[in-house]
Amino acid sequence: MISEHLRAIDFNKKLKSWYLKNHRPLLWRQTTDPYKIWLSEIILQQTRVAQGTPYYQKFLDNYPTVFDLANADERDVLRLWQGLGYYSRARNMHFTARQIVNDFGGKFPETAAALSKLKGLGHYTAAAIASFAFGEAVAAIDGNVYRVMARIFGIKSDMLSNEGKKEFAAIAKELVSHEDPATYNQAMIEFGAIQCVPVSPNCAICPFNDICYAFAFNVQNALPVKSKKMAVKKRFLNYFVIQQGQDLAMQERKTKDIWKGLYDFYLIESAGPVESPDELPENQTLQTFLMKGNLREVPKSYIHLLTHQKLHVQFWWIKIRDEESVDLPIGLKFFSKNEIETLPKPILIDTLLKEEKYL
Ligand code: ADE
Repeated sequence: MISEHLRAIDFNKKLKSWYLKNHRPLLWRQTTDPYKIWLSEIILQQTRVAQGTPYYQKFLDNYPTVFDLANADERDVLRLWQGLGYYSRARNMHFTARQIVNDFGGKFPETAAALSKLKGLGHYTAAAIASFAFGEAVAAIDGNVYRVMARIFGIKSDMLSNEGKKEFAAIAKELVSHEDPATYNQAMIEFGAIQCVPVSPNCAICPFNDICYAFAFNVQNALPVKSKKMAVKKRFLNYFVIQQGQDLAMQERKTKDIWKGLYDFYLIESAGPVESPDELPENQTLQTFLMKGNLREVPKSYIHLLTHQKLHVQFWWIKIRDEESVDLPIGLKFFSKNEIETLPKPILIDTLLKEEKYL
């Protein structure tokens, strides 16, 4: 529990005064609209403020209200999200927007408990919306807040374990301001983002350096305790860009994975790197493409890091000769350049098409 020497009220006073002097005037702090707050929190779960802000604005320009998002096509939503990664978050937002419109007449539930029942809203996001939009006194604990709490209060439990989470939640419950929970949560997040930073925090100017456990024992780098990450799996993706005239063959990914709903090319996964398509297992479709077209290896290979995967991606480009025609296997379809421009694609594919001067 919080040190006897430190009352939550005193902590809050100091925190709020730090916040009022130091916080950044971010767009989503100037609204109590739960839709906008929700959007900002989902974007900020995966991106830094500087990269996330243009997406936030672009999204709101296209879908100013939850009704607009609910009415949108998933394909267009994914296209706007392109480059942010974690596309399931965009798909979940779209799904939940429809639920809010269809089941709640477009009004967001007003408590963290009710909000966290919605798809894609975890404890953190639900608490953030409930406090920022509706003034509920619940603590929103994101990675920043875990770090601040672990260091100041010397909490050594693993923040990723269930017990650890409970311990942090219990202390946060004591700390959260009942007068102004929104400012309390924004301030904790901001304090972690710009003062109590992960590496080399400037503790000399910290308002809590008189009470901070980590500062007293010089263990800022050891806190918070986080269990080891899952091993990163290597995968080798061999993409074949099939071109006929100016059109390229693309397919919508239907598999339940991170790129579901995005468009990619004909894909053969291999156990290791391959230097030539001959090294791939026998594949009739590929043989036909190779027979009817001219193969060109894209010289550059790409490495794409995901949370638990390292993708090694190699592209080959097969231009079908003008006198030939190919039957595409189910799923693949030829799209014109204009259509391809508007399709949602993994950023890697967008980059390739730009580097190859196709787009
Ligand atoms: N990161 C997550 N939520 C945030 C917020 N509301 N402001 C700034 N950074 C954040």
